[in-house]
This record gives sequence, structure tokens and C-alpha cells, in this order.
Amino acid sequence: MILADKLIRDHTLTRTEYIELLDAGGDAGVRTKLREEAVRLRKQYYGDKVFTRGLIEFTNYCKNNCYYCGIRCGNQKARRYRLSREEILDCCENGYGLGFRTFVLQGGEDSYFTDERMAEIIREIKARYPDCALTLSIGERPCESYRLFREAGADRYLLRHETADEAHYRKLHPENLSLSSRKRCLYDLKALGYQVGAGFMVGSPGQTNAALAEDLCFLEELHPAMVGVGPFIPHHDTPFAEAEAGSVEQTLFLLSVIRILLPKALIPATTALGTLDSQGREKGLLAGANVVMPNLSPLKNRKQYDLYDNKICTGEEAAECRDCLSRRVESVGYCLSAERGDAVL
Ligand code: SAM
Ligand code: FES
Repeated sequence: MILADKLIRDHTLTRTEYIELLDAGGDAGVRTKLREEAVRLRKQYYGDKVFTRGLIEFTNYCKNNCYYCGIRCGNQKARRYRLSREEILDCCENGYGLGFRTFVLQGGEDSYFTDERMAEIIREIKARYPDCALTLSIGERPCESYRLFREAGADRYLLRHETADEAHYRKLHPENLSLSSRKRCLYDLKALGYQVGAGFMVGSPGQTNAALAEDLCFLEELHPAMVGVGPFIPHHDTPFAEAEAGSVEQTLFLLSVIRILLPKALIPATTALGTLDSQGREKGLLAGANVVMPNLSPLKNRKQYDLYDNKICTGEEAAECRDCLSRRVESVGYCLSAERGDAVL
């Protein structure tokens, strides 16, 4: 219990202490204590509001071959799609009508979407919806591309670091990808004035508590505005098809720890959490998360953005997704906010 108290008091621990805390994560007393503090902090800064982001999964083409990911280029069975500029704008129009004031454009690393094509789409969305925040999640690009997107109007960027442990990074990615490059992107994005989101999967193959401690130290160092953390879930056509999924309990524990480390962070209760447990997103909100990301992608393509097995919300229209999440948020005593939902300063 001493380490939990220290974390609550100082909002930081040493690497060794994080390992000890994670080792103690199975203790119900420690978990409850940290969860209560996480909820107290999120209420202090965000009251009972849960921010909502309209997620547009606009391409599942990807040049990368991350071992965990269902849309990796090596998966010949993936049925590929990319949305046209008009289809993307239609998703925004639909989303705006439903009350969304943040759009997230997420996709694989698809070279069809050149810097110029992306910048043109960003400019058009920002011209049509100047009151909305625009988030990109399109992987690693040179700093100059990030600059162009920022100048075109992009406000935020999600790029999970996936793991801050070198050896673990190598187990999850092929040789051409590197942790140093990932980190370089995150620091570039921050320097360009984006609200940056980092994060990782919980329970990815080979992850140890020492690796997770590295993640927590990296989050402290980077100090991102947003942190995406969800359980790893295997996909049947990847090298990790037979691997075990991450645990819901451990994910919830980490959400609480991260809320205490970064009290003002925007932290989603992820779709992956809702996939492993039908009440996963509600539990995430009760562990310190304060964001949900309903899907605005066209119904015809939903199933194709197939990152992991049994992904939920692939059969509902955007309006149904929004209403379903709104009910879920209310069921645990929070309310869905229609604001842009920037991080408090
Ligand atoms: N290409 C962009 C990137 O690399 O940031 C965005 C798309 S990528 C599919 C979004 C996130 O999905 C990744 O950061 C990863 O953490 C998560 N993801 C991929 N495969 C997963 C799996 N099998 N289980 C859980 N999450 C997964
Ligand atoms: Fe590129 Fe997953 S390997 S999005």
C-alpha cells in the first residue's frame, strides 16, 4: 500500500517502484485505492463530462507489417478499402449533425494519401467545420509532413508508442520500424503544437511489468495531452493469432495509474476494452477514463477495419453508436459532452 500512497502524493514513482506497484496490481485493496483517486482527479478537472470523438477509419491499406495488427500489409486476406475525399466529408457531415465536434481521421500508413492529398482534406474539413477539432492518426511521417498538416488545420495527433521498451518493441515490429523513430515523431508533433496522444496495448505478447514501467516513465517524460491504452486482442491472420489477449483488470489498473500520473489527460475507454468485456467501456470510465470514440465510418466498410478479432460496433450506424455510448456513459453517472473537449490547461 505504501507505493500506492506515494503515487497518490507525488504523481510519480521511480522505474523500480513502478515495477513493484505493477507486481502489486493484483491486490484488490491497491486497485480500489488507485481507482478512487483516479476518479477523484478526473472529476476535479472534468466534472461528470465524458468527451466524444467521431472516429473515421478512412483506409485499411498499410505499408507496415506490425505483428499484432490485422491490417498489416502481410495479411493477404484483408479486404482493402479506402474512402474517397467525398466519403470522408460525408462522414463529417453526418457526424456534425449528430453533435460531434471532434473528428478523428485514422488509418493505416497508406501512400495513396500523400501529404498534399491529406492537407487538402484537412483544409476542407476545417473550412466546413471551423468549430471542430481535427485529430489525425495516420502513423509515422517526416516532421515536414506533420508541419504541413498542422498548417492545414490539424489540431491533434494520436500515435501510440506501443511499448517504450527496446527489446519488447523488437518483438512486436519488423526490423524497418524502430522505437527511436516513433519517439522522434511524438516529439516532433509536440514541438509543432499538436495535442499529442501516445499509448500502448496491455498484454501484448512478451510484455513484462518492467516493460510497462518503461511505458509509464516514458509517458511522464513526454507528458502527452492524450493517452490511448487498451488490451491487446489477437487477430487470427497475424503471427500472434495464438497469443493470449490482455487482461481487462490490468488495463483498468493501468488506466487508474495513468490518470494519477497525468491528472488532466484525455483518456479513452477503448473499443478494445468493450470487445473483451461487454461492460468494459463503462468499467474504463469508472477507472479514470474520460473519452469515448464512437465510429462514424460508413457501415459498408466497418468490418474491414479489422485490427483484432470480434471487434464490436461494426454493425451499427453512427447514430446508433452515439446513442448506445450515450446510454452507457449515463449508466455510470457521467454525461456525454458535445464540446470539442480540449484538455484543460
Ligand atoms: N497507423 C496508425 C498508427 O500506427 O498509429 C493508426 C492505426 S493503428 C491500427 C491504431 C492502433 O491500433 C495501434 O496504435 C495499436 O495500438 C492498435 N492495435 C493494432 N492491433 C491491435 C490488436 N491486435 N489489439 C489491440 N489493439 C491493436
Ligand atoms: Fe499499419 Fe496496423 S500495421 S495500421
